[in-house]
Amino acid sequence: MFIKIGLIGKGNVGSCFLELLKIKKNYLNKKLNLKYKVIAIYEYDGALINEKGIDIDEILLLRNNFRSHKDWKENVKAIDSISNLNLDVCIDTTPTNPNTGEPALSHIFKALNNNINVISSSKGPFYLKYKEIHDLAKLKNLLVKYEATVASNVPILSIKDSLKGNEIISIKAILNGTSNYILSRMSSEGVAFSVALKEAQELGYAEADPTLDIEGYDAAGKLVILANELFCWSKTIKEVKIKGISKITQHAIELAKSEGLIIKHLAIAEKGTLIVEPRLIEKDSPLNIEGTLNVIELQTTYSGPIIIMGRGAGGYEAGSAILNDLISIHRIINNIK
Ligand SMILES: NC(=O)c1ccc[n+]([C@@H]2O[C@H](COP(=O)([O-])OP(=O)(O)OC[C@H]3O[C@@H](n4cnc5c(N)ncnc54)[C@H](OP(=O)(O)O)[C@@H]3O)[C@@H](O)[C@H]2O)c1
Repeated sequence: MFIKIGLIGKGNVGSCFLELLKIKKNYLNKKLNLKYKVIAIYEYDGALINEKGIDIDEILLLRNNFRSHKDWKENVKAIDSISNLNLDVCIDTTPTNPNTGEPALSHIFKALNNNINVISSSKGPFYLKYKEIHDLAKLKNLLVKYEATVASNVPILSIKDSLKGNEIISIKAILNGTSNYILSRMSSEGVAFSVALKEAQELGYAEADPTLDIEGYDAAGKLVILANELFCWSKTIKEVKIKGISKITQHAIELAKSEGLIIKHLAIAEKGTLIVEPRLIEKDSPLNIEGTLNVIELQTTYSGPIIIMGRGAGGYEAGSAILNDLISIHRIINNIK
């Protein structure tokens, strides 16, 4: 049996996922008995569609010229088309409107309403409508996976399966690489906030409009997903107390340093509350990471702190998380232990 896949969004993450499907094809086929066909690849202005399976090698060779491929159909929209293709899994990798969760939110509801399992790297739907998505998936007896939405391939959502014999008390994390890069540069090199931000933009870490990163909204969204997953909550981003880093001065950083402390932009979930704000931490804290890395510290009842760190962004990082989600879905729907 082939798993029939529809991919929405062929940008950085979508393309890296397709490449990983190709690179790992033998492993998937032979070791995991996971045989797949990519039936549709949607972009905003049309789609590649082939019900016998799109030739991924040809598409990857064409790079940005994929619209010249024989399977390309103009003006086909995912929202109108995914219900017609008998898909098993719909993978959304579109950019999210942070206020509405669109277009991913509609894609996810449409897929679930049409009995299609979902994988998403788009986080908006999950910090806005976590409960509604899960309720619908449960009602339809379908799977929804979204490991890539928090720290990409750092397996922090799936870690809950390994901690069933324990209890998580609190989460403290750095979930936004851009703001961590800026604070690291201010602290280690003494550069001003505006200079560090400009550097982050020049290096491609920060968007032209960096508000979501530096004001904490991006980290807050990831914190909601993480806390909902690990604490079985159903919160939304409206319940996060958010404070950004744009008001942090060089003077404040130097003052902290003189006390052996560091200012970090922490995302914290404990005792039913969600907070993203600059906090002072000890210099030798495991949360004192440099640059664009992400780190998550779980305080547990029976094992003390458990810390996991890694690259929180990147096309291959997110693509690998999606592939892992696909493997999980394959195992569950085919009842493989
Ligand atoms: N990049 C990362 O490191 C990373 C890591 C984890 C999660 N994510 C999340 O993954 C998602 C994708 O990120 P990305 O870096 O791959 O973004 P990207 O390079 O901008 O790719 C998104 C693609 O989706 C297309 N698209 C937009 N609206 C669409 C629609 N309605 N239907 C079909 N396709 C549509 C875009 O087309 P146009 O560009 O032509 O509009 C673009 O090709 C985002 O939600 C992001 O937050 C990214």
